[in-house]
Amino acid sequence: MKSFLTSPGFLSPYGTFGADFSSVMAWFFTLLFIYGWYLGRKHQGQRHHLVTLWGMIAMLGYFTIYYLARGLGALSTEGKEGFGGPDWVYNSVFVPILLIHLIAVSLGLVLAVYMIILGFRSSAMKEKVRFLKTETLKMSPKTFKSILIGSAVVFGLVAVLRSQTFARAIVWISCFIIIAFVVFLERGIERWLPDGASRHRKIGTVTMVLYVVALITSTATYVMLYYIYPVKTI
Ligand code: HEM
Repeated sequence: MKSFLTSPGFLSPYGTFGADFSSVMAWFFTLLFIYGWYLGRKHQGQRHHLVTLWGMIAMLGYFTIYYLARGLGALSTEGKEGFGGPDWVYNSVFVPILLIHLIAVSLGLVLAVYMIILGFRSSAMKEKVRFLKTETLKMSPKTFKSILIGSAVVFGLVAVLRSQTFARAIVWISCFIIIAFVVFLERGIERWLPDGASRHRKIGTVTMVLYVVALITSTATYVMLYYIYPVKTI
């Protein structure tokens, strides 16, 4: 699998298949989310719900498979050896862009899980129309405890029983950490934005902006690595 992913790509003369494929997927998912955002803005709640929900689930699934096959931070570990430009460009341009990208992607993944749950909690259906409920949205202490304990048990068991490698166990443990983080985050956000509808709109907009930032920065690093400053081996 690794040799397949590092074989020549199809987008640029120096790109690898893995890098090219993940660039295409990044464009595909971001455009899909922008379309979902557009549907939300046009008050087409049910279509917005279907596009964002299935888009986010597919993206999380893709990201997990990508992580298992290619390893996280492939771009950053290729690092200096994979960058054929001058040192000052690497240190002052490439690394800061890569850092912004990694922060945007990490936050974006956490917010993907958060927004899916918030979408269901903050909306309702009436005569086939999905709308956001303008009311205080608060998690009960019982739900808070159940989510933490339940996810610890489920992901802990899966990590112990189903992981042949340490990398796989880390994926399941990370799932628990993301859920725990999101649940704690929600406690703070409840005080700051008590109304569920405006919480959904505000944090949803931040999520969408993060995805656009992640796409711009990943495209910039791709162009630098494989078009402007490739390592020419031939
Ligand atoms: C998963 C990621 C999601 C993101 C990032 C997101 C983001 C947004 C944003 C930014 C808006 C406001 C659009 C605007 O007026 O500017 C919105 C509206 C809305 N969202 Fe989501 N959303 C997500 C998922 C969901 C889900 C899963 C549901 C339902 C279960 C849902 C239901 C709605 C509804 C009903 C509206 C209001 C549409 C209207 O104004 O009539 N969203 N969303």
